[in-house]
Amino acid sequence: MNPNFKKILLKELERVDSSGVSNRFENVIEHFSKDSSKAVIKGSEYTIFNSNDYLGLRFNEKLKKSEAEASEVYGVGPGAVRFISGSLKVYKDLEGEIASFHGREDAIVFSSAFTANLGVIHSLIKGQSKDSLLSSNTLVISDELNHRSIIDSIRVSNLKKENKAIFKHKDLKHLKQILDDNKNKFDRVLVITDGVFSMLGNYQDLKKLKLLLKKFESFYEQGILLIVDDCHGVGCYGINGKGVEEVTGGTADLLIGTFGKAFGVDGGYVVGDKILIDYLRESVATYIYSNPVSPGVAGASLESVKLLKSKEGKGLLKKLRDNITYFKQQVGKTKLSFVIDSDHPIQPLLIGDPIKTKKLVDYLFKNKLLVTNISYPIVPKGKDEIRIQLSASHSKKDIDDLIKKLISF
Ligand SMILES: Cc1ncc(COP(=O)(O)O)c(C=O)c1O
Repeated sequence: MNPNFKKILLKELERVDSSGVSNRFENVIEHFSKDSSKAVIKGSEYTIFNSNDYLGLRFNEKLKKSEAEASEVYGVGPGAVRFISGSLKVYKDLEGEIASFHGREDAIVFSSAFTANLGVIHSLIKGQSKDSLLSSNTLVISDELNHRSIIDSIRVSNLKKENKAIFKHKDLKHLKQILDDNKNKFDRVLVITDGVFSMLGNYQDLKKLKLLLKKFESFYEQGILLIVDDCHGVGCYGINGKGVEEVTGGTADLLIGTFGKAFGVDGGYVVGDKILIDYLRESVATYIYSNPVSPGVAGASLESVKLLKSKEGKGLLKKLRDNITYFKQQVGKTKLSFVIDSDHPIQPLLIGDPIKTKKLVDYLFKNKLLVTNISYPIVPKGKDEIRIQLSASHSKKDIDDLIKKLISF
């Protein structure tokens, strides 16, 4: 390697490390003991309070069996991208199942929700090429706390400054002002938001948002499309686990989800009207030119969606809700305070200082508990938090142990 380039790389790594935001020294889990809430690291058992496996499905016997069966039928890899020879029946079955779960006409599956966001948003802004009929004058409006994959999808679309706007977090008055200021200036508008926001466990009120968009629809020739990324909501939020749409009663034009969190498996998806999904299949580069998840993963996801509709799934959703209620009741008896009041499995406890937050995480780690610290720039200065993520696989004792240690810090 060129020594000058090597020097730059070393300096950059030093810069990252000295700012305290390195990612590469993460804890390595050797295996799990008992169930998905107990990880073994360097021979010791830790209770995990920072996993997205909200229903504890990653070791579910039915999912593991379906994964093995799909691998037996189709092999362990897709062999090619979808339009070449990689379109296996298990993907079509999964698309049918997840579309029906969300009450939509069609679905398209991706290797991850990150790649879904990157490709889908770009395609709807720019079209697939210069000749595309969609390469028209679009205004993109995004919530300021949207996930990194949404931010990057807008970045790679290389829009002019006047074609993009950011509205203050969940601030529909600000969004209204942006829509008002831009009336008749653009062919179409894309409004993009997270459903559940992953740092806070709060959510966008899709019903109110939809009502607002309806009022401005006629001022843009091709209308306003609402895209919602509800990766932290689907599979765990709402009585039936249908996410923020179920909780708020509002519907997205395109809903983006992941099988890699509450569904306990891996891979991303988008659901919507057939015509939109048909267009995405013809235009999204991360779908056309990249392999889907493996057949086994698709088989396990298919089983997971089916399970969520069953008595077993409803039971897990209830167990999760009970754990959230219990955690909040117990914390309510202490002086610990939340950043916001959330009834989602993400419970952000306010610490308010980056050093104290990091010390608390280290203290909990010494006491065999895993949580994540979140500090500026991810959250505003003074709003440093530890993000606790509850799961249906936690016992009351797990929750009691966590709270005891939080108090004793
Ligand atoms: C809101 C949101 N969107 C997208 C993703 C990416 O999901 P995946 O792991 O399936 O790429 C995440 C995961 O962190 C997320 O929180």
